[in-house]
Amino acid sequence: MTNSGFGVDVGGSGVKGGTVDLESGELIGDRIKLPTPRPSTPHAVAATVAEIVRMAKWDGPVGITLPSVVTSGVARSAANIDEKWIGTDAYALFYDALGGRRITVLNDADAAGIAENTYGAGKDAKGVVILLTFGTGIGSAILHNGVLLPNTELGHMEVLGKDAEHIAASSVKDAKDLSYKEWAAEVSYVLSRFEDLLWPDLFIAGGGISRKHNKWIPHLTNRTPVVPAALLNTAGIVGAAIAVDTGIAP
Ligand code: BGC
Repeated sequence: MTNSGFGVDVGGSGVKGGTVDLESGELIGDRIKLPTPRPSTPHAVAATVAEIVRMAKWDGPVGITLPSVVTSGVARSAANIDEKWIGTDAYALFYDALGGRRITVLNDADAAGIAENTYGAGKDAKGVVILLTFGTGIGSAILHNGVLLPNTELGHMEVLGKDAEHIAASSVKDAKDLSYKEWAAEVSYVLSRFEDLLWPDLFIAGGGISRKHNKWIPHLTNRTPVVPAALLNTAGIVGAAIAVDTGIAP
């Protein structure tokens, strides 16, 4: 098969992988999902990633996302995965676990941003596009005319003395039992702080809550247009496959 790739998206509860048609951005065959090992130590996760690649019978390059800042292949933070990741050479670990093939490792939200910008909600967007994933925390990806600025951590930007994600992640809506409208007011405030700093042309809202976008995006009051993500639960896989194919991930 030509022009296909493979991506694996490592999350706090599941490790998901699949073969990606790089022409359309769609998965070829089923998405494979295994539970994230507990504890989610680097070696246990690497074995799970290798198992998914084996199950898919894929022998080509593999892109892998982590919920971590990743610089020069080294994980620098760990959100919802074991702290042992911090300082781990993730590139070397996955390279060995996958038998020495071509791989790349990148932040999960960066992968989703690449995928949305290539095939999804940001496909025809010009200028600065910011993808935000609303979940347990807030992940971010900033792209300018399709070029990624890796490892932005807007969810950790200080807003009103707290991490932005502690104000506007979807987990905050659940924890405080906010209505969509109440939560949208918090999101608007946080988006306004981001846009005062970065002046994006478009925000793309991802994460599970983007499925319910009709309930909250219309209530947003910040100035930049916000559109829902198009790829939803495949964005990380697809972005990882693009990243290893194009070499755009650091
Ligand atoms: C982390 C990011 C990650 C995001 C989504 C945040 O808490 O700091 O690196 O992209 O969660 O998993």
